[in-house]
Amino acid sequence: MAAININISTIDLSTTLGAKKKQQQNGATTTTNNNVIHLTSVIYNASGPRTGTSTAMAKIAVSEGAGGVLAKSATLVAQKGNDLPRTWHEDSNGAAAAASSSSTSSTTSLNSEGLPNNGIDYYINPQTIRETMAGCTNRKPYMVSISGKTLNDNLQMLQKIYKAIHEQQQQHDANPGDDEKINIAAVELNLACPNIIGKPTIGYDFEQMEDVLKRVSSLPCFGTTSPPLFPLGVKLPPYFDRSHFIMAATILNKYKHILTYVATINTIGNALAVDYPAEMKAVRPNGGYAGLSGPAVKYTALANVCMMRELLDESIDVVGVGGVQTGKDVFEMILCGAHAVQVGTCHWLEGPGCFDRICRELRLIMKEKGYTKIEDFRGKLKEWSKEGATLSREARMSERRKEGVVESGGGKQNNMSMMSDGYHSLFIAVLFVVIAVLLADKYQIVSL
Ligand code: DHB
Repeated sequence: MAAININISTIDLSTTLGAKKKQQQNGATTTTNNNVIHLTSVIYNASGPRTGTSTAMAKIAVSEGAGGVLAKSATLVAQKGNDLPRTWHEDSNGAAAAASSSSTSSTTSLNSEGLPNNGIDYYINPQTIRETMAGCTNRKPYMVSISGKTLNDNLQMLQKIYKAIHEQQQQHDANPGDDEKINIAAVELNLACPNIIGKPTIGYDFEQMEDVLKRVSSLPCFGTTSPPLFPLGVKLPPYFDRSHFIMAATILNKYKHILTYVATINTIGNALAVDYPAEMKAVRPNGGYAGLSGPAVKYTALANVCMMRELLDESIDVVGVGGVQTGKDVFEMILCGAHAVQVGTCHWLEGPGCFDRICRELRLIMKEKGYTKIEDFRGKLKEWSKEGATLSREARMSERRKEGVVESGGGKQNNMSMMSDGYHSLFIAVLFVVIAVLLADKYQIVSL
């Protein structure tokens, strides 16, 4: 393989969301934002865990491996969220474990937080952005997420964001020495929050979803004659039925002129965990029903990325999210067509160190497979084939040989156990000879 010749430090993990859209819009007047999002790495954080304050977000900003910083989903007014305990994590024994920052691997998790956040004004305040991005040495983007409790709240928040971007640009134009990264690079509109008591998940209510996009697209900042004034993404809930995928994609395609990306998936809503010793619901609010995340949702996420990539207009990029905790998970998401990958639960449990680790793992995979850039394998997932199955079997056998596992008869043994079996037999043989010699001596067959 070409792997040997690739220097890992030359593997470029940066990516741009909206590049196709920009090509299509060539000729139209573009703004300073250019409607693209330049991520310094294909991996960044999902909105939610460890994103509520500038102190928490600053840790993502300084992490080399995180390609951008996405703030917590904001509401129009700050709010505390649902009653505690509103999160739950399953440890490897299947027992409930408290959320712990010392945990190093991701587990199945539930949350019913109910959007605790500092309110939109906090997340768009230049002071918050400055505090968040102060230690960032590259030009990664700072992005905000909104999850209004009503359509009007979403529209108001978008207008506030537009105003903040505009003011910051004017400030920068007046003082070119000012740091350009102190601005909002994109907005993610959350159509998928399942934890607002008494409210439907917008992404499951297609009429409402269409209405939201229609009203958003009619805002002055998304005028139809020129490109939008900032890149917009939407976060979707997971779909499970092909007809629902088609309905969602049809609506999204209708508004492709305002959509840079679609992030899929949010948590799987209305999961339930049982506290076994106490024989009660593990999460308190919302009748114990909460959004499921972590490795349990990865395969649903892969399917959503793959199917959305198939159905969406090519100008709308897909951002994969759900159960990602290793470089291999990211590789699989990109193979399914993701332009970038967000990490949520793993970031929650492992902390911001996860971004560097996952990038390292992804680079090693790319080196081994002979890929130097993301485009080498993005969206190149093949259909199942006999040739592929043979290749896969051979790869597994070679992996087993490397680990020292060999096939013997109908069963399997590894070299260590075969060696210890050999010593065992030798020991019994020597013992047998010693006993025989002693017996022979005793009965004077031979004399020692
Ligand atoms: C919350 C949950 C989500 O799944 C989401 O996308 C945003 C907020 C919450 O409960 O706080």
